[in-house]
Amino acid sequence: MSCIISFISRKGGTGKTTNAINLATTLHQMGNRVLLVETDTNYTLNTLRKMEIFKSSEGKVGFELLGSQDGQVADELSKIKTLKTTDYIIVDSAGKTTDEGIKKLCLVSDAVIVPTSLTQNDLLVTYQTVADLAPARELNPRLRIIILPNRIHSSTNLYTVRENLKNLDAIILPVMVPQKNLFVNFSTLEAEKEYQPIAQAILNNLA
Ligand SMILES: Nc1ncnc2c1ncn2[C@@H]1O[C@H](COP(=O)(O)OP(=O)(O)OP(=O)(O)O)[C@@H](O)[C@H]1O
Ligand SMILES: [Mg+2]
Repeated sequence: MSCIISFISRKGGTGKTTNAINLATTLHQMGNRVLLVETDTNYTLNTLRKMEIFKSSEGKVGFELLGSQDGQVADELSKIKTLKTTDYIIVDSAGKTTDEGIKKLCLVSDAVIVPTSLTQNDLLVTYQTVADLAPARELNPRLRIIILPNRIHSSTNLYTVRENLKNLDAIILPVMVPQKNLFVNFSTLEAEKEYQPIAQAILNNLA
């Protein structure tokens, strides 16, 4: 049965795309059947994939990539899930996803991952995002709401990260994604090995 993992936040630029791609490449490299769905209608990941395939002489294929839209992605996911052709479906939702779009996505997802930095602005939005998602858990009891500390400065330790997030009514991952260019200069074909423990922590919370 496919597991649907949706990256959501009520604010743009929190790291949804960066983490969706790193998770997808890592899970694919681990041998899983992965589909990444992007709902941002600029379809930048599809364009990146085409460029990478054009440049690559090795004939790499990578995980499957599908373009969708805010208003239709939840219905498409329900259909894809029943086909049982994937292990993990990862949704990179657009920065401007509507309230209705977020709600529908929560109903079909097994996990929602909310990336957040520790800036005051990001924290406020994350507390608001989690509060907004809470009612979806009543309609979809299998839904896990997972907070992924992202873009954390190298001098910040995990204790400080967890102190900042401890009042959130959600699963706080016991790992953090540092502020590093190697996560940003991503490829849709090659996994970044430093993302492995983060992907593993996410998997541990889906079991
Ligand atoms: N771990 C990280 N280290 C360094 N830079 C990061 C990291 N995560 C995200 N960024 C940078 O932050 C910016 C926003 O990241 P990203 O595009 O992944 O966010 P997003 O949530 O997908 O944004 P949008 O809502 O616009 O789709 C980008 O410039 C990205 O390179
Ligand atoms: Mg994005």
